[in-house]
Amino acid sequence: MALQTGLEILQAAQAGKYGVGAFNTDNLETTLAIIEAAEETRSPILLAITAGALKYSSKRIVDIAMAEAKNATVPVAVHLDHGESFEICMWCIRNGFTSIMIDKSHEDEATNIRETRRVVDAASAVGVSVEAEIGRLVELGAEVIISEENATLTTADEAERFMAAAGADTLAIAVGTAHGPNKGRGRPEINHERIAEIAARVSQPLVMHGASSIPQDVVARVIEAGGVLKDAVGIHDDDITQAIANGMCKVNVGTDLRIASTAGVRELLRDKPEIIDLRKILEPARNEMRRVIIKKMNLLQSSGKA
Ligand code: 13P
Repeated sequence: MALQTGLEILQAAQAGKYGVGAFNTDNLETTLAIIEAAEETRSPILLAITAGALKYSSKRIVDIAMAEAKNATVPVAVHLDHGESFEICMWCIRNGFTSIMIDKSHEDEATNIRETRRVVDAASAVGVSVEAEIGRLVELGAEVIISEENATLTTADEAERFMAAAGADTLAIAVGTAHGPNKGRGRPEINHERIAEIAARVSQPLVMHGASSIPQDVVARVIEAGGVLKDAVGIHDDDITQAIANGMCKVNVGTDLRIASTAGVRELLRDKPEIIDLRKILEPARNEMRRVIIKKMNLLQSSGKA
């Protein structure tokens, strides 16, 4: 079972009409929380690693993720999230990743196609699947990277044209979500018609980035324990369910894990100020992350699919 390609896992999800979580991991505790949740619910998963996670861990996160993926009794893909260059994609392939994302969505379409095609040609030769992206997600937060005005939803025409030319295995589309804890004012508006339209024209599995739900009870606990989380809003559960019904297969979640772990650590340090053992400090982080991941797996209906 264990290590599979992203495409294998997502084709099964597409056929079975359920979603699979791609959970971001930066360290041991997060990786263990994700794997434990997957084992407990019998869910297939993608362990998503960014360039930031590689840098933070001096690349050791790869050894941890690979070992956990190989030992798991559920299907796991080790996935590069938002690969920004050909070089980093090749490094990940050489180091055992079974799924990579080349993200040139900030470039013009011709460049995005050319750079994606280059990665697809290399990855497909060694059986690694490739996710690409077209369209631009909002990036709000402390620093606005892409404002609501500059974000562009993916159109069905460009999605079809892009996939025919670039040959990627899966496609991330912009349909109203955003990365990070600030996904808009009030309930973020997800364009469900657009998802259905794209799914009708693109046969490959679709990917939703920025899908954290930012649970308000957990946000309240972070604030209560002294944290600052201003205007934190996530994607409504009903929108996730509907997006999957309309053809979304891979659902990316990172911020929910950060908020949950912060709540656990803040509360422990507030309530037990005598604790100085990092294992005891990080234990609630791992438990809180496992809890939100299990909830997400049940929502995606990946539970029981492994
Ligand atoms: P969130 O910030 O909503 O967790 O999204 C994570 C993501 O899309 C990683 O690629």
